[in-house]
Parts: sequence; C-alpha cells; structure tokens
Amino acid sequence: MTDPDDIGYNTTSNPSFSTMVEARLSRRNLLRGTVATAGGAMLGSISLAACGGSDDPANPAAGLKLGFNAVAKSLSDAVVVPAGYTASVLYRLGDPIAAGVPAYKNDGTDDPATYDRRAGDHHDGMTWFGANGSGKWDAKAGSRGLLVMNHESLTPVFLHPTGRTVVGGKRTVPSEVKREFYLHGVSIIETTKGADGKWSYKQDSSFNRRVHTLTPMELSGPVRGTDFVKSKYSPAGTATRGTVNNCANGTTPWGTYLTCEENWYGYFSRTAATDDAKRTAKELAAIKRYGVGPQDFYGLWGTTQGAADAAEQDTFDRWVLDVKGADASADYRNAHNTYGWVVEIDPFNPTSTPRKRTALGRAGHEGACLGRVEAGKPLVWYMGDDARNEYVYKFVSNKNWDAADATGGLAAGDKYMDDGKLYVAKFKADGTGEWVELSFGKNGIGETSANYAFSSQADVLIHARLAADVVGATKMDRPEWTAVNPKTGDVYVTLTNTNASSRPIDKTDAANPRFYNDPKGTAQTAQNGNPNGHIVRFAEKAGNAGASFAWDVYLFGARSTAAADINISGLGADNDFSSPDGLWFSQATQGLAWLETDDGAYTDVTNCMLLAAVPGQVGDGGKKTITNKSGDTTRTQETIVGAKPGEKDTQLKRFLVGPKGCEITGIAESGDGRALFINIQHPGENTADANIGDATKFESHWPDGGNARPRSATVVITRSDGGLIGV
Ligand code: FEO
Ligand code: CA
Ligand code: CA
Ligand code: CA
Repeated sequence: MTDPDDIGYNTTSNPSFSTMVEARLSRRNLLRGTVATAGGAMLGSISLAACGGSDDPANPAAGLKLGFNAVAKSLSDAVVVPAGYTASVLYRLGDPIAAGVPAYKNDGTDDPATYDRRAGDHHDGMTWFGANGSGKWDAKAGSRGLLVMNHESLTPVFLHPTGRTVVGGKRTVPSEVKREFYLHGVSIIETTKGADGKWSYKQDSSFNRRVHTLTPMELSGPVRGTDFVKSKYSPAGTATRGTVNNCANGTTPWGTYLTCEENWYGYFSRTAATDDAKRTAKELAAIKRYGVGPQDFYGLWGTTQGAADAAEQDTFDRWVLDVKGADASADYRNAHNTYGWVVEIDPFNPTSTPRKRTALGRAGHEGACLGRVEAGKPLVWYMGDDARNEYVYKFVSNKNWDAADATGGLAAGDKYMDDGKLYVAKFKADGTGEWVELSFGKNGIGETSANYAFSSQADVLIHARLAADVVGATKMDRPEWTAVNPKTGDVYVTLTNTNASSRPIDKTDAANPRFYNDPKGTAQTAQNGNPNGHIVRFAEKAGNAGASFAWDVYLFGARSTAAADINISGLGADNDFSSPDGLWFSQATQGLAWLETDDGAYTDVTNCMLLAAVPGQVGDGGKKTITNKSGDTTRTQETIVGAKPGEKDTQLKRFLVGPKGCEITGIAESGDGRALFINIQHPGENTADANIGDATKFESHWPDGGNARPRSATVVITRSDGGLIGV
C-alpha cells in the first residue's frame, strides 16, 4: 500500500463493526448506450463562451450544456477522452525543470542530487496562473502561465534501482531518502502554448522552482513564536523546514498558491515506551487525537543510517519526535506541530519563503477553496479535514477585501490570512446548519474544556480538531475537496467514503445518511458502510462570513446497478462513479463542475475518472427517507437530496477515464478555458515490491508504454476545434 489516501485514519474508539451483508443486488447489465455514445462528439456547443450562464436566475442549471458524448467505463491502461478531444502528457515524474539537468532515465539510477530540479511524484492539486508579457499575474492569459502543483506522496517501488533498501527496519541508503525528500512538495513550472497549439513546459524558465521537504518555511499567524513550535531548527519557533503530503490546493485574490498538508502525521515516529513519561497529559492527548506516530507508516525516514555529516543527519533526525534534550530547542519534540497547515507560496517570486498560515487551523488539510470575493466584505476559505469522522472548516478574515491588495503578494496574505476566525460546521437534520467559532474563551473552548485544557488561541489552532470536538461539530465521511459554484455561491464538499467501523449503521445522520454493501469483483466480497461516498453542498444564509447555512446532498456515488436506496442519484452507465475526491468549478464556463475520483471500491469495473457536471442549487430536490440494511438489521434515515442528474436541467457525464491503478486529481484551466490540465496520480501503484525486477508484472506502463515504469503526470486536454472544454 503506497497511497496514504488509502490508509484508515480513524483514531476514535468506535467499535469494530464487521457484519457482512449478503450480496443480493441484481447485477443487471445496464451498459446499454455506452458503445453508441463513444464516438462523434466533435461539435460541442460554444454558445456560452461569453460566460453568459443561465438566463433564469431561479434555475442556475438552465443554459449550460455538456457538449460531448460520455466515455464508457474502462479498465485499460490508457487515458480515454471523448471524441473531438486530445489528451497530451505535459509533465511527468522526474522531468527536468532546470537547464543542464538530464532527461529522466526512469530506472532508479538518476542522480539523487538532481531531484530538487525534477518533477516530484504523485502530482495532485494544482492551479494555472496566467502570466502577461512582463511575467506578472494575469488571470485571463491564455497561452503562457505558471502551472503550480502539489506532489503528495510516492510510489516507492519505482523510484530506486530495485525498490526501497530497508535492512532490519531501517533505511540504509541515505541517497534514496534524499530522493524521497525532494519528490514531495510543490512544482512551479512555466507552461506555454506553441504556434501549433501544443502545450509544453519551459525547462530553463527562471520561474521554475521545486519546494520540498527541505525548503525553509516561515510560520505565520498566531502560532508563530509560541512554545508549541520551538525546535532545534528554529529555537524561536518562527520557522520550520519543508512541507509534506501536499494534497489539494487553493488560491487567493492576489495570485498566490495555497498548498495543503494532509497525511503529514504518518511521516513521524515516536518511541512511546520511553517518550510518554516525558510528555504532559495534554501533549499525549493531542498526539493521539492527530494520530501522530508512534509508528512512522510511510518512509521510515527517521531511521536512516549512514549520513555523510551532522547536517545531513539532522534532516533524518527531525522525523523522530522523541524528547531527547534539555528543552525544545535541543530536539524535534515539536516537529509535528509545524505540519498540518495551509501553506502560501508566491509562484511569481521564486526566491520568496513560503508561509504556513496558522490562523487557518491544523488538520489533515485536503484543500482550501476561496469563497466568492466581494469588495468591502471579509474573505473566506472552506476546508475539509480528510480523515474518517473529521470536520468541515471555514476561515473568515477580520479585514474586509480591498481590491488594491490584488497585487499584494505574500504581504496581502499576512493581512487577510494571519488575522481571522476559524469556524467548524454542524449539519442539522432539518437541512440547516451552523458555523461554530473556534476561539479561545468561546463556545466552551478554554482551560476547563473536558477533553483538553486549552491555554491560548495558538493552542486552539494547533489542536483545531480537539476544539471542534468540544462544540459538537458533525463527523463527516472523510471531507476532501471544497468548491464554490461561481454562479450561485453554493459550497460543495466531497465526502469520499467511509467504512462500517467508522460509521456503523446506527451512526448514520442526515448529512452522512447511507449504510450499504458494495460488492467487489466476482467474489462479491462485501464492503460495508459508505464505500462510494457522496457530495454535500450548502448555501450561506447570511453571507460568506455568516453563521448559518442551508444544505442538501448533491450527489451519491454508486454503481448504476445498485438498488434505489444506494443509487439515490439515479446514476446510469454514462455517469456512475465511486469515491469523489477532486471537485472544482471552471471559471471560463462560469458554472461547469468537474469531479474526480480516487477509488478503491468500484475498481473491479472501472479505473478512476473525471466527470463534468452542470449542477443546480441547494434546495432543488427534497426530503428523502433511505432504508439502510446490514444483515438482519434495517434502519431508516431521513436526509435531504438534490435534483437527480437530468432533472431540472442538471447534467452529469463521464469525460475521462485514467490508466490502471491511478487516481485522477488536480485540475486547472488556462485563462481562456481552452486548455484543461489534470493529474494522473500513481498509475500502477498496486505493483508488488517483489515484482520490480519483472516489467511484465507492473500494473501499468503509463504514460511511456512498453516496459517502462509508470509515472505520475500532468495531462493537458484540448479540443480539436479549439473550443471551451466540456461545453
Ligand atoms: Fe490526498 Fe484526501 O486526498
Ligand atoms: Ca492518492
Ligand atoms: Ca482521496
Ligand atoms: Ca485528494
């Protein structure tokens, strides 16, 4: 298992719940129509190219039309797009981004010292920043821009000559670990569209940059300089080194990039048997709540033997949290507190130091989506904390937006992102919801909180999950991306999936309403819980900064062949999906939504995919009672569902299917909407370590084909007639 997104995160004490439900679903073949629609989508409507959107304000779905024929589900080792579209590989794992760096050999022998100037692994969330002729941000630019993307994680088997070298549970080849440090983080690359319409990146651009686990970072906001973050690296607690497990992303109104640290806790280890006695009860409660150690479940970086010198040894030591020295300035006991943040990077200033924006709280951050921007109003960002039973957050700036700050760079970030309030969502059964402020001294969050004695606002922000526990926030089925519909302002949250131990049948609620069995493969092995996930959306009732909202469930993932109480959205062969993760609205079309999957449940039938949608709005459906079943147990659950695809002019169609073993993630468009960028993450990730010597046993060879090792890569999608993508 190499993808940390697949790992169970639940640190609560819910009982194990493994009752198997007998597979009794009819497996009618509903594939009719997919062959007939596979060809001939040359002419998409471009009538809305001027962003006109709906003529009917009461129905935001009216007007926009998906202008392609859906692609069929696929298990092939290829990227499949509709007729009339081209998908081209732009930027692969290992590709060089500086002059003089040789092409990637992709056999594990590339010089580890060059990896700080190569594409990282596991491409994830990304943003395309248009650039004008002077190299300044221009949101409408269509043929030159900086593509900024996350590199979340690694598929280690393909990175070294014969996979990772681990002896007696320790890493014994420091250069392999150095490679892995560099392969995480963020890429900034200059991309251009040539006269022939083809996209490429410029290998020697002065904008090109890698940010990785050794890059110096400033801690910014209320946590900066507090005892919680003092370390040997920064005795004053003002800085930290690097970023890791950068999952989804976000933007600002001043043209900077937000990269979000998700499963950072899996990189740290701690010797609980000796370290526990040196920690306060508060520290231990916090470590437990965030699932930090004691076992490193990822790279064993802290075990690395054979460092060349003390400075290199320090880069390995900082992944071990044990209390060793006289105080925090002598060891890395607090290193975990310097991860789990939303990090701001100015891509137009290659020498700038990224800033970890601590006012947005510490979590397993998936992404940070900017809400609608209005002059004279606060700025808001919506954030999912991706672990089972975690929460949805909102950050609201204290300062009101002044358009004069649109060229402000990181100084604008200091103004709006270091000073504000953090809220967590409570979804109520009646279809309303509430944002509860997470501030020291409010809402029961303080020194006498039952679960944890908070001492300051910095303490609240570092332990946002514990503060959210205090106020009774709603536990969700793994909140992934958030997205804001530019047409309506509705906020969408993908809830990728959960399992029966994290949400047993008697713990469903209105916003997380399903419990069912999803058969897998010919063995019909039961997967109970909510293995296909769903998407909740909400409408702020009192403006972005307000405390109340209305919500419904926009879509439920399901097999098209599943029973009606599972396939609640009525998905068919052209649009059935499982485990929604990436979700993003195109600005160029003013309202087209793109949905990406990171699935392990429906993968017996199809590889992961990208779908396009024309959604409606909160409240376009109605109340529904679902009957959930587990063995002999039957329970009903009330919920509120949106219009099904096809109702009220709403639409949903599968646009792309990826190669074997991949996740589809990250999405961005050129300023004119004529190029769509997506990432193929970890093709072939299910290749067993033992098979690295036999290329015929690799799960995938995408994108290079033949016997090549597979590589995560960015793909750029264009239309043969040069039109807007998807419409
Ligand atoms: Fe990295 Fe939650 O996906
Ligand atoms: Ca992944
Ligand atoms: Ca995921
Ligand atoms: Ca994700």
